[in-house]
Amino acid sequence: MTDNRVTIRRAVESDEPALLDIELTAWDASSGFPSMTEGERAGFFSDRSGPDAHLVAVLDDRVVGYIRLQDKYRFREGAGVLAVNGLAVAVDARGHGIGSALLTAVTEEAERRGARKITLHVHSSNTVARRLYERHGYQVEGTHPREFLIDGEEVDSLTLAKFL
Ligand SMILES: CC(C)(COP(=O)(O)OP(=O)(O)OC[C@H]1O[C@@H](n2cnc3c(N)ncnc32)[C@H](O)[C@@H]1OP(=O)(O)O)[C@@H](O)C(=O)NCCC(=O)NCCS
Repeated sequence: MTDNRVTIRRAVESDEPALLDIELTAWDASSGFPSMTEGERAGFFSDRSGPDAHLVAVLDDRVVGYIRLQDKYRFREGAGVLAVNGLAVAVDARGHGIGSALLTAVTEEAERRGARKITLHVHSSNTVARRLYERHGYQVEGTHPREFLIDGEEVDSLTLAKFL
């Protein structure tokens, strides 16, 4: 069950410091890519991934998580396929259903946009996220064996998808 103090809304520019903080602390070798969160990073948003592409979870006035939803393709035949290109919850806010609430909100948004499919990638080692996606109706569409070398370990990448 999601904590009923949690609200989900579209991101705005002023969420950037909180989102950057989550980005730099939420990921580890089993979920993300250490190279992307090491060292200096100027901001969270970019030209191709601005506030409009994000829903955020707010708990007691604090931004504690985000989900990024983007068109997977930029051509007509691929219209209706959306990609979740990021989902993260602050470490100290986990286990309260916030990830689940963000996934529910993204399904509602995708349906509003007339999408027919949502797709995403997850490391096979990311058991918490895999369980969460499974509960939300995502199924494994493909396995990319030994796709990444992360901290010296070969990691399989899975493509998951949910039809709307
Ligand atoms: C995956 C992630 C977004 C889940 O966020 P969350 O807000 O903890 O999600 P929920 O509370 O909805 O569900 C988390 C699961 O962990 C369990 N859990 C319980 N206490 C927990 C805790 N203290 N910390 C983490 N998970 C906990 C929940 O019960 C739930 O298990 P279930 O799916 O078997 O019911 C979060 O762990 C995260 O940011 N991970 C790093 C980034 C990541 O892996 N993103 C996905 C990449 S594809």
